[in-house]
Amino acid sequence: MQTHEIVRRFTAHFEKNGHTPVPSASLILEDPQLLFVNAGMVQFKPYFLGDVPAPYPRATSIQKCVRTPDIDEVGKTTRHTTFFQMAGNFSFGDYFKRGAIEFAWSLITNPQDEGGYGFDPERIWVTVYYDDDEAIALWKEIAGLPDERIQRRGGDDNYWDMGVPGPGGPCSEIYFDRGPEFGADGGPEADEDRYLEIWNLVFMQDERGELSPKKGHPPIGTLPHKNIDTGMGVERVAFLLQDVNNVYETDLVRPVIAKAEELSGKRYGDNEADDVRFRVIADHARSSVMIIGDGVTPGNEGRGYVLRRLLRRIVRSARLLGITEPCLLEFAKVVRDTMSPTYPELASDFERIAAVVRGEEETFRSTLSAGEKIFEHAVTDVRKAGGHTLPGDEAFQLHDTYGFPIDLTLEMAAEAGLTVDQDRFTALMDEQRRRAKADAAERKVGFVDASVYRAVLDTHGATDFLGYQTLDSESRIVGLLRDGQTVPAAEEGESVEVLLDRTPFYAEAGGQLADTGVLKGDSFQIRVDDVQSPVAGLRVHRGVVTAGTVTLDASVVAEVDPARRAAVSRAHTGTHLVHAGVRNALGSSAAQAGSLNAPGRLRFDFTSPTGAVDPAALVEIEEEVNSVLQSDREVQTYETSLDEARNLGAMMLFGEKYGDRVRVVDMGDYSRELCGGTHVRRTGELGMVRVLSESSIGSGVRRVEALVGLDAFQHATTEHLLVNQLADQMKARPEDLPERINGLVERLRIAERDLEKHRAEAVLASAGALADKAEDLDGTALVAVTAPDGVSGNDLRTLAADVRGKLGDRPGVVALFAVADGKVSFVVATTKAARDNGFAAGKLIPEFAPAVGGRGGGKPDLAQGGGTDPAGVDAAVQKLRSAIRK
Ligand code: ALA
Repeated sequence: MQTHEIVRRFTAHFEKNGHTPVPSASLILEDPQLLFVNAGMVQFKPYFLGDVPAPYPRATSIQKCVRTPDIDEVGKTTRHTTFFQMAGNFSFGDYFKRGAIEFAWSLITNPQDEGGYGFDPERIWVTVYYDDDEAIALWKEIAGLPDERIQRRGGDDNYWDMGVPGPGGPCSEIYFDRGPEFGADGGPEADEDRYLEIWNLVFMQDERGELSPKKGHPPIGTLPHKNIDTGMGVERVAFLLQDVNNVYETDLVRPVIAKAEELSGKRYGDNEADDVRFRVIADHARSSVMIIGDGVTPGNEGRGYVLRRLLRRIVRSARLLGITEPCLLEFAKVVRDTMSPTYPELASDFERIAAVVRGEEETFRSTLSAGEKIFEHAVTDVRKAGGHTLPGDEAFQLHDTYGFPIDLTLEMAAEAGLTVDQDRFTALMDEQRRRAKADAAERKVGFVDASVYRAVLDTHGATDFLGYQTLDSESRIVGLLRDGQTVPAAEEGESVEVLLDRTPFYAEAGGQLADTGVLKGDSFQIRVDDVQSPVAGLRVHRGVVTAGTVTLDASVVAEVDPARRAAVSRAHTGTHLVHAGVRNALGSSAAQAGSLNAPGRLRFDFTSPTGAVDPAALVEIEEEVNSVLQSDREVQTYETSLDEARNLGAMMLFGEKYGDRVRVVDMGDYSRELCGGTHVRRTGELGMVRVLSESSIGSGVRRVEALVGLDAFQHATTEHLLVNQLADQMKARPEDLPERINGLVERLRIAERDLEKHRAEAVLASAGALADKAEDLDGTALVAVTAPDGVSGNDLRTLAADVRGKLGDRPGVVALFAVADGKVSFVVATTKAARDNGFAAGKLIPEFAPAVGGRGGGKPDLAQGGGTDPAGVDAAVQKLRSAIRK
């Protein structure tokens, strides 16, 4: 049975039984605790906790999931993957254990021609939480399972929570017995490879705190309702129903292996080490394409780092299979073709996805070769010293400079029979992180325990945001923090965080920098330097008490700095216009990847399908944007439903989670985006947008920087003045400057060449004069002098040979010294007659070189060397004299 059919049957089964089908959530949900969505229940968490009433009593979904903790197992077992699809059914206070068991049992055991999966009931085993007699009784009643195929297990196996505070509950897992040829008898307790888990039914009833009931800690509370959360591993069911050896050989994964076979010329199944690499490629290609599809780009932190690690492991595995050409794009195409029937955006966004993988592979390949050399040197050094451990410093350097994920270094070290000093590596990484954190903490409210904010949120609710309508408000202080702790009061000079019941201050979000301003009380004043939103719904004003004593509960007038707000708003509107301009010029696959809206200045990052933007295109974008300013469109903002916004063609950001109600910022038909930021009222207020630069920031992402308003004007003026000044100096009209400067550069080049020629001639002409200065040492002519200034290297050698020529048949030795930058270089040449008398140039050098702190050598007729002590030249000449006299 094909994967698509497995999924279809799942949805049909639950839809028939009253479940609302809910589309998969993005892999990126704004849950600070989670890097990626890793279970079907994540998007329903607020319903389980009772924070939000569930819009339906029953739901079903096929959720894309990424889990990376077991990344090292991928390819080595039959069942570990970093990407998988979890099919789930959910009950929010509706049915409980009985319903969950009935629904699951009928779907897995109903015959295939009746819409089920047709698993043999005799080969199904289940596990239950050790004291869950109720579940045991139900399994017997509903499925007729005998006692020996029901196993009780402890919290580690049969209690499920998200790994963080939140909903949880005992669970019951369903296993399929693959047969005695795959392992020991004795059920899941004995062998989880032979008995393969396919479905987990969680009886969601507890709220867990910091410590998990998995480890025996009691839950901190009971959920308002008893719920059901289940997860069936789609790839695992496919593995069993397709009669293949593992999840990697199922219909949606195996095609990537086939592509790797084609590119490498090797065959899957020939040797285990290569097979692991094939499987790693197959799994990682899927997870990385899905992650990019949801808007993540490779980076050095968080999700970006996970993605980078996945992509780099593919490249590295491919190399080990002998694939030397770029290959990521090829694998990505296979994933697109297999997965787009379920996730059509993979096909429609493929240009963007392709740009990301291409960019990352390019970046990585250029560092990979360099890094591998460093690695090999390090390995040689370790071996030479008789060691078995690669120093942590080397691993860190490979990470820091060459972008080697640590696991790559570990893998390579293991292949070389070495271990890695991971403690040292971790210490170095921690140090680096501490530095980064300290940098960040300077600017942001960052690392305070969020529970302090949550407490304020629970008591006073979300901060009412008035900043779209007004720049000042009368507000009340509902939270006051110093050093992350609630305080009743704070004195002049102290840094504080202030929470208000309502505020006109915009908190940094969506690339728009925070407002600044003041909070004025009757007898105190606070300067607001930054506003952040560490917990959704709350706005934290960070600043310094500049006068008086501020107390909790005091009334204030909150005043936003209007000039800064206006300048930031202009930049934000400018960013929307640049975004639209870029898409008009480059096509809709040029997707926003980040932005910054600062006073008078903006930055817009986007994935570029075609690499660098042609300067002419950039000028066109700039011109188009400015023409929109001139047409002075009205900027409208309004709220609407997400569906309606989509119908209107509003641009949305990948991976951004939008609620049902969204805010649209609309500039006629030129630009329409979902956005929570602040904007000007009419585009004319921007005055001018001036693009400063376009550049790469890596991984297929480009960056446009621009100035807006008076800042743009001032920049233009400065450039204008500069051009005028240059024109004056060059005595040319501004438009003739490029030609004039080209001419000048050309003439300069010719002049330098002539000068060089004359200098060389002059040097060589001095040969005669130098030969005339020869002194006679017992019949040998010696010319030992410091060469004229500017003579060195080749010239020095030519000059020495010329002087020797002038000495004719006489026995003669020429020694020329040149001094530059605190160093001495020297050349010794001998005539044939001198050589016949036993004077070899190469042999003479050791006689005098130590006097200039140097050494050298060469042939009997010509030798050279250098030293570090120019003051020793005279002494060296003395030594040479005595050597010749001897
Ligand atoms: N949430 C449960 C799991 O992930 C179903 O296993």
